[in-house]
Amino acid sequence: MIIRDATPGDAEAACAVVRASIIELCSADHRDNPDILKRWLANKTPEIVATWADGQGRSLLVAVEDGAILAVGGLAHPGEITVNYVSPQARFRGVSSAMVAELERRALALGALEIALLSTETAHRFYLARGYVDVGIPAGKFGTAASYPMRKVMAGGR
Ligand SMILES: CC(C)(COP(=O)(O)OP(=O)(O)OC[C@H]1O[C@@H](n2cnc3c(N)ncnc32)[C@H](O)[C@@H]1OP(=O)(O)O)[C@@H](O)C(=O)NCCC(=O)NCCS
Repeated sequence: MIIRDATPGDAEAACAVVRASIIELCSADHRDNPDILKRWLANKTPEIVATWADGQGRSLLVAVEDGAILAVGGLAHPGEITVNYVSPQARFRGVSSAMVAELERRALALGALEIALLSTETAHRFYLARGYVDVGIPAGKFGTAASYPMRKVMAGGR
């Protein structure tokens, strides 16, 4: 598996991974509620995913194995993880761990002293186990039960 910058040609497959990840893995968040899913998925189209990398303030990464996209990760520079979705077929193989590690490396290289993100209920335990702490009050997004503002102070930060 390699993790690399997404290209415009990745948009369709990356979008499919993001949508499958939300629909199939995030039921703790959307509880199979069609209204929540509709709101959550509304901006997950190939055209919009293609705009998530602008080559300047935002990076979009894909984890790829044998030509298939296993995960999609996004960074708003310097230090906000905005996207982190794994394909259901690649779950629990270390793919999201590798993606987050790469996003953290990129953020450090851009001078970030801390990383911020908004975690799903589904991924909350994953981020806690990787050194992220809750900051602020969980708030529902798209009508989900809770999204957790989290951050991780990187070496050199306070
Ligand atoms: C939870 C999730 C992020 C883990 O990513 P992954 O690529 O499947 O898993 P990895 O192999 O890299 O990491 C496994 C970790 O997931 C966590 N985990 C294990 N079982 C879990 C479960 N049933 N549910 C949720 N998290 C679980 C643990 O922290 C585990 O690592 P640890 O045992 O070393 O602490 C992923 O499976 C998922 O559900 N993604 C859905 C999309 C999402 O919510 N993204 C976050 C947006 S902010």
